[in-house]
Amino acid sequence: GEIYLNGAYLAPDQAMVSVLDRGFLFGDGVYEVIPAYGGRPLRAREHIERLANSLRGIGMQEPLSLAEWSAIFDRLLAPAPETDQALYLQVTRGVAPTRDHRYPAHATPTVMAMAKPMQPRDRGIAERGVSAVIRDDIRWHRCDIKTTALVAAVMLRQAAAEAGAEEAILVRDGLALEGSTSNLFVVSGGQLSTPAKGPLLLPGITRDLVLELAAQAGIPYREDAIPVETLQSADEVWITSSTREVMPVTRLDGEPVGSGRPGPVWQQIDAHYQRFKA
Ligand code: PDD
Repeated sequence: GEIYLNGAYLAPDQAMVSVLDRGFLFGDGVYEVIPAYGGRPLRAREHIERLANSLRGIGMQEPLSLAEWSAIFDRLLAPAPETDQALYLQVTRGVAPTRDHRYPAHATPTVMAMAKPMQPRDRGIAERGVSAVIRDDIRWHRCDIKTTALVAAVMLRQAAAEAGAEEAILVRDGLALEGSTSNLFVVSGGQLSTPAKGPLLLPGITRDLVLELAAQAGIPYREDAIPVETLQSADEVWITSSTREVMPVTRLDGEPVGSGRPGPVWQQIDAHYQRFKA
């Protein structure tokens, strides 16, 4: 489909950015991924608010309003209204005349958006779950900024793939924080918990939605630190993201999680999530 780039809608092979773009040279930009079901973006306002927070975090202004973004989404989604799609949005600090780390005095941001089909969840996942590995968090200390500088996440997700796992769950100072591309939930001793928001993890939109659905369903939860030992002995482990929804992790570093099957609390939350997104 078409790609939105700086006000134009272009064929993919026509959508070009300068090699002097700071996104290319420094990873000096931020992004969002928004799921869209039946042509309707899910939680678009929350995603655009998080984009604004990421931009503020790197000293940039919002290039477009929510209404302007929404018009772009409608156009990108229109060719395949029946297909579930993921919208990808990226804003970089733009092109500067020379490679200098300092923010340029006058740069025009590069603004890009595109849509791609989202694969429906594999049926085996609800029956068997997925596997994850535990890894040291080698990322920086501002994981609340959704930056395109992703090489640490790229390395961690690749390490997971090479270990035959869907995700790497990241541990810093003995605490499990999130996945390389997802947030983390555990059920331990009958208690649902997820780490509190802060600079060391991304404030996931799916995470917040899951907490809302838990509250509506009368499932109590805590936003609290998860020691790696709690993760390793948990009855249920889930990862959440815009493209994965709520995914049950049933093997951790090769060991079964709880019964080794997706758990009852996951089944309850997933049913609510599936109903909500429809
Ligand atoms: N990743 N934590 C990290 C480090 C992430 O990269 C993501 C999302 C999440 C989940 O956030 P949300 O629920 O808002 O999608 C948590 C996206 C999907 C990606 O990089 O493709």
